[in-house]
Formats: sequence, structure tokens, C-alpha cells
Amino acid sequence: MSDNPIVFIDSGVGGLPYLKMAKQSLPEKNFVYVADNKNFPYGEKHSLELKKIIIKLIQNIVEKIDPGLIVIACNTASVVALSTLRDKFGIPFVGVVPAIKPAGEYSGNGNIGLLATRKTVEDPYTDKLIKNFASGCNVKKYAGIDLVEFVEKKYLTSSEEEILKVVSDASGFFLDNRIDSLVLGCTHFVYLVDYFKQTLGSSVDIIDSREGVVNQIIRLIKNDKLLSATKNKDVFYMTGSQAEKSNYIKFAEEFNLLWGGNL
Ligand code: DGL
Repeated sequence: MSDNPIVFIDSGVGGLPYLKMAKQSLPEKNFVYVADNKNFPYGEKHSLELKKIIIKLIQNIVEKIDPGLIVIACNTASVVALSTLRDKFGIPFVGVVPAIKPAGEYSGNGNIGLLATRKTVEDPYTDKLIKNFASGCNVKKYAGIDLVEFVEKKYLTSSEEEILKVVSDASGFFLDNRIDSLVLGCTHFVYLVDYFKQTLGSSVDIIDSREGVVNQIIRLIKNDKLLSATKNKDVFYMTGSQAEKSNYIKFAEEFNLLWGGNL
């Protein structure tokens, strides 16, 4: 796959911080990002509907981009569809699931917070993760529905005060529950790390899945030449209405990606 791009997908801009870290570790690889704006938000959909949406999106990506590897840079989509995608498509997939395992290993007081979408919070897959990797812990789950919408649509144009206000309900919930570790189980929430640090204080560890995901990509491509034959500029595509295009163009610039328009 040395010349085929590594494609990252999410319902919107959540996967971009994941892509950024992968690019830092693999600067010679070609990357493509796809924001599935047409179906945003994933976290408010039923599993079956979401599975169909993601299969269709991947089908389209396979036909148009011919990826070497696909990163499902979205906890909700990974929880719901990852095993089906692996069965259906003959390409390697890397998923993003809530980092319950490291939180369970490192939590001192056993009180862990999980901030995710409604779908991820409610899905039995998440209960299984907790049972397998944090069974002795008390995991307090919070569905950050408004936070996803905020990051997607308002993050780039909001002031620090506005962002702090938006995280305050979730932070209050976690402070009341005396957590010492917070798992960011939705890729959109990586944008809010500094604001959660400010509101939760330095005694709470904030954990996401970026490092694990990048290590897994490296493991899967270890037999390829790390150098792509031709390094192209990495591209950002969106799906859905062009009415929201200007927000995505700004994100593409922020992450140094070429604007590819609609997929
Ligand atoms: N970024 C996605 C996640 O990690 C979900 C956002 C959405 O609800 O669309 O779960």
C-alpha cells in the first residue's frame, strides 16, 4: 500500500487531531480526510441506520480514493460498525474506541469519567469494554450531545469564555463524582482538552486514544516502505450540503490540508 493513502473518516472534524498526530509520526505517507457532514451527528442515530451509512461511505471511498488503510476516527462509528467493515472490505481498518483500558490501569481512586456521544454511552460494546478492562472501577458516563455540536459548528469562532461555559455542565458532573481520570470517548472532545484541564484541575488525568491509534497504524503498515513513492499534499473532503463548506475550509487550513470539496 505504500502509495495508497491512509484515509481518516469521521462525521465531521473530530478525527482531525488524530490525523495530525499520525502525520507527525509518518510524514512521508499520503493522507486523506473525509468529514461525513451529510450524516452528522452519528451519535444520535440508531445502530442499524448508522451501520448502513458507514458501509455506504466506505464503499464510496474505496471506489474513489483506493485507500491502503482506513482509520475510523470516530468512537461512535467504531463501536457500531468496525467488525462489520472488517468482514466486508478487504482492507485494513484501525478503529478508535474509548480508552477505558489505560484509565482502568492508572486510576488511583477507581472513579473514572467517560465523556462520549449518546450512542457510545448507551452501546453494549462500551459496557463490555468496562467489564473487561475496568471491572473494579466506578465508571460515570456522560453524553456530551451539545459539546459535539459546539465543536463541529462553533469551536473555531468562539472565545475562551464561551468554550469554558460550554464544558461547565460536564465538568460539574465529573467533579461531583470525584473522578481522577477522564476518558474522552468521542474524537470531537480532543479540541476541549485544555478547557477540561482548567475546569477539572491538575489531579484529573485526561485520556484519549490518539497514541494507541497511531501505534496501531504503524504496526499495520510496518511491512510497507515508510516512504510513499510520491508524497502529495494531504486532502480534506466533505459530504453533504455545501452551505457548511466555509467552516470546513477553515478546519482544512488549520490542519494544513488541501481543500478537496465534495467527495
Ligand atoms: N466524533 C464522533 C465520535 O468519536 C462522533 C460525533 C457525532 O456524534 O457525530 O464518537
